[in-house]
Amino acid sequence: MNRLDSCLAEAAERFGTPSYVYLTDAIETRIAEIESTLGRWFSLSYAMKCNPNPGLLEWLAKRVEYVDVSSIGEFRLARQAGWGPAQASFTGPGKRDAEIAEAIDGDVGELVVESVHEAIAANRVAGEAGKIQNILIRIAPSSVPKGFGDHMAGRPSPFGIDIEDAAEQLPQILALPNLSVVGLHIYSGTQCLKPDAICENYRIFMSVFRELCEAYDITPQKLVFGSGLGIPYHAGDTPLDLTDVASVIGPELDDFRSEDRFAKTQLILELGRYLVGEAGYFLTSVVTIKDSRGTKIGICDGGMNNHLPASGHFGMVIHRNYQMHRVGGGEADEKINLVGPLCTSIDRLASGVMLPHLSEGDIVAVHASGAYGITASPIYFISHPAPKEVLVEGGQLTDVSRKFELAR
Ligand SMILES: Cc1ncc(COP(=O)(O)O)c(C=O)c1O
Repeated sequence: MNRLDSCLAEAAERFGTPSYVYLTDAIETRIAEIESTLGRWFSLSYAMKCNPNPGLLEWLAKRVEYVDVSSIGEFRLARQAGWGPAQASFTGPGKRDAEIAEAIDGDVGELVVESVHEAIAANRVAGEAGKIQNILIRIAPSSVPKGFGDHMAGRPSPFGIDIEDAAEQLPQILALPNLSVVGLHIYSGTQCLKPDAICENYRIFMSVFRELCEAYDITPQKLVFGSGLGIPYHAGDTPLDLTDVASVIGPELDDFRSEDRFAKTQLILELGRYLVGEAGYFLTSVVTIKDSRGTKIGICDGGMNNHLPASGHFGMVIHRNYQMHRVGGGEADEKINLVGPLCTSIDRLASGVMLPHLSEGDIVAVHASGAYGITASPIYFISHPAPKEVLVEGGQLTDVSRKFELAR
């Protein structure tokens, strides 16, 4: 068995399946790769929504400067993990007054204001607390280049202030006395594997930042670039090479930074999946095999309830198999459908995937499962036990399972 499979087999043996395994060495390598290619221009902010496992967060808090939270629950998790409040930004289109109040009371670094309505609420709360709250204004550009798996701008969208409305809405926010605009934020597209499209997107960001900072005479302390960096999920996906991104956009970032207005600005790359996605594996055991009308079906102990994205129900139009392998290896010479234990035909992990011959008790490892795993999945559906979570650090396996209210 290779090293990876020995580790996955040990995790399954000691903690059981279904389970998620997070390899910190792989994240460490990823951080180093980003720092060596883009670190000259950017600081990093971890978008916690992609994986808020507390054990993982504690590990990340020592290595990633900033954290982006999208609910007050995530803000609390960030604090528990060890990030200081000033290191946290708080995004999200529907923040409730109570969340805004708790974040301001907890000295959150920046509230990422997504509407005038939210700015007015934040101004009121800050005023009542006798504080001036730092904010970033989230802007939704008018276009997102082709090549992103999901778009949060360039079309009707709940996220941020549409650039077309900036002239009307920004002055209203800038006039609020208890808010201090320390910069702008854009997250307009995600899951992109095309270096050209990523560069073109950052070009759009720089143009929006220039235009608005000049129009409203903002000398920003921070500008957040929503990274859009994607990871390969499916056979045939080409992994991103960040050196391709850096070599094209680097000189343009240098020009940007050489402008007086941006000379002291901290540029922040906000990202989730690119940091942790490929470092995670989802392990599920084959409970039984059924031959049904000429098709082989492997019924596993975890499926869509544990891993919604792999089942194709997380923003995908067509289901495509995640890459996966049988733990222990072997030649992939048998075609099989893999399903989970749910009583619904949409609980499908793989259709017609080629794997080594599977028998009861075999373990399948689904790749690219470190982001948008458990917390993007309907784990309460049909009340199966919640999956375990295992953090692997230098050969040491630790049970970092979360306590969901599902008995195991
Ligand atoms: C505001 C914001 N920040 C960060 C992210 C993280 O995206 P990714 O995990 O693709 O890097 C998202 C994704 O939806 C987002 O909406």
